[in-house]
Amino acid sequence: MNQVQNIVILGSTGSVGCQALEVVEHHPDRFRLVGLASGKGGERLRQQVQKYQPLRVAVSDPDALEDLKSSPECSGCELIEGGLDSIDRMVSDDRVDRVVQAIAGGPGLRSTVAALKAGKIVALANKESLVLGGEWLMALASASGGRILPVDSEHSAVFQVLEGLPIEEVRRIILTASGGPFLDLPLARFPEVTAEEALAHPTWNMGPKITIDSATMLNKAIEVIEARWLFGVPLEKIEVVVHPQSIVHSMVEMVDGSIFAQMGNPDMRVPVQWALSYPHRWVSPATYFDFSSNHRLEFFPPDLSRFPALALGYRVAREGGSSGAAFISASELAVEKFLAGEISFEQIALLVEGALDRHETIFDPNLQQILEVDRQVRQEMTSCSF
Ligand SMILES: NC(=O)c1ccc[n+]([C@@H]2O[C@H](COP(=O)([O-])OP(=O)(O)OC[C@H]3O[C@@H](n4cnc5c(N)ncnc54)[C@H](OP(=O)(O)O)[C@@H]3O)[C@@H](O)[C@H]2O)c1
Repeated sequence: MNQVQNIVILGSTGSVGCQALEVVEHHPDRFRLVGLASGKGGERLRQQVQKYQPLRVAVSDPDALEDLKSSPECSGCELIEGGLDSIDRMVSDDRVDRVVQAIAGGPGLRSTVAALKAGKIVALANKESLVLGGEWLMALASASGGRILPVDSEHSAVFQVLEGLPIEEVRRIILTASGGPFLDLPLARFPEVTAEEALAHPTWNMGPKITIDSATMLNKAIEVIEARWLFGVPLEKIEVVVHPQSIVHSMVEMVDGSIFAQMGNPDMRVPVQWALSYPHRWVSPATYFDFSSNHRLEFFPPDLSRFPALALGYRVAREGGSSGAAFISASELAVEKFLAGEISFEQIALLVEGALDRHETIFDPNLQQILEVDRQVRQEMTSCSF
């Protein structure tokens, strides 16, 4: 594919966003950067604007707008805007072909909706969008001619493997999980786990929310729901297996017992690039896997007594409706509280479970109702003392 693609990168200052820009830098002739967007912006965004010269730039935090407008780095931009509306307008720009959606958390939903409504291809890192409104987003994409291409390494792996395989002959989708930093930690040590320990992921370098979610395996719970919607398979066909080396990114087992895996070094630039190059393969900035090193690949089932948050993903997927919104909002608040030292590591899953117990599921919710559930759960959890 030699055609230049017009792209927008949302969440450009974050871990995935920065890696998406490395992919762009690796292929200067293949991309034109229509826009960059982030939350608070700041120094990193200004440097990105100076280096990559996007046509448009937007920050959701209106307070960050003045700083951006007055900075010399942004003087060449066609448009500098603030507020979530401005990000919606950026992704809907007629010139845009693909949108990298790498905003962290629930706030990403709006711009995912805006991009799909405008019929864009969305390279989706923001898995929360699918937990909040998966069924609805998939229907929106097929109605508008838009498309979601997964960026999450596990889902990218399944997506790649499924190319050319009949979905009705799939027996299981097997999502791999590294198990995070506490895979072998004695259970008696869990009450004392610190934020610093939980933020030290053994194989991936990611933003703080997803890193803590990897330590609790709440991330894998989110990914089970994400897989449910992306691949349209029943929940019973989605399994999680612990694979500490993060070399096999996920697998698909067919009814005849054959298992297909996608593997390689753990490097998010590969799935990000695949969502931008699809259906073509390009040389990537990642290093190739070295078979001359002594590799050992292990697989074993997750221990739910160690990782109770994982079971919550199956519960939410079974309950459906607005429970996904309650799940995401509660998990964001719980992780914020843990990072602020207000609750212990083990309380993260307990708090999320409590929010789900209290939540009265609305079936087939619309966007307004999803946003209202988010507001209510946040308000309720903020006003509680733990
Ligand atoms: N990191 C990974 O390897 C990885 C892998 C798979 C999936 N994901 C998913 O990708 C998403 C991003 O993860 P990350 O690790 O890159 O997060 P991150 O490093 O924390 O970065 C988050 C990005 O989102 C922006 N942002 C936050 N709130 C925003 C808002 N209200 N409006 C607009 N932008 C906002 C931030 O902007 P400011 O910094 O300017 O505030 C920043 O650019 C998450 O959904 C995560 O689950 C990440």
